[in-house]
Amino acid sequence: MPKDRPILIAPSILSADFARFGAEIRAIEDHGADWVHVDVMDGHFVPNLTFGPQLCRAIRPHVRTVMDVHLMIAPVDPWIEAIAGAGADYISAHVEAGPHIHRSLQAIRAAGARPGVAINPGTPVEALDNLLDLVDLVNVLGVNPGFGGQKFIPSQLAKIARLRAMIGDRPILIEIDGGVSAETIGAIATAGADVFVAGAGVFSGGSVEDPAPYGRNIANLRSIAQDAARKR
Ligand code: DX5
Ligand code: ZN
Repeated sequence: MPKDRPILIAPSILSADFARFGAEIRAIEDHGADWVHVDVMDGHFVPNLTFGPQLCRAIRPHVRTVMDVHLMIAPVDPWIEAIAGAGADYISAHVEAGPHIHRSLQAIRAAGARPGVAINPGTPVEALDNLLDLVDLVNVLGVNPGFGGQKFIPSQLAKIARLRAMIGDRPILIEIDGGVSAETIGAIATAGADVFVAGAGVFSGGSVEDPAPYGRNIANLRSIAQDAARKR
């Protein structure tokens, strides 16, 4: 695997101040965030309810980097146009969200966004076999989706390594989402991830008034991942 793969830190706004998303996004981007990860949840596919296309549209002007929308919803198709129209750069849908994920991924690209497929901890990586030629990103969930601040599930390390082999030299980024911390990011980077979503791991200890901890957390995560990636 080429050693010069990117190391991108994507804070999840699920752990941000829900009353001040614009200011929080500016703060994390001012302090080193490469992407902004936006967790859309419908209270049906996952046992939590966050926000939808209107919020994506409202925060878009505040995102100077990349808006990475993670759809934890089922069905997916009725919302693709609205989320893409809100300005999402990447839109990831779950392979478990329904029987027609192949068509949903085609629809995401047709709507003008870069398609990603997300996969839960209990789903074998082989479920992605017929989808890799449709996507620019694979989001491997490191936790059972729905909440921030959970513990990383170590069995996902082997899944990342297996996925890296399946991808070969296709231009597909592997994203890890959930449970990323200073304690876990090294092994995850060694396994082959490129994009590291972190909610609690970035937002802990900081605030819009005091964003310096955001910068320290992001820099620390990046340096651990870069050191580990050199050993890949
Ligand atoms: C979980 C979300 C993740 C979560 C990550 O359902 O998809 O993006 O916000 O949060 P942490 O990094 O706190 O596990
Ligand atoms: Zn997510």
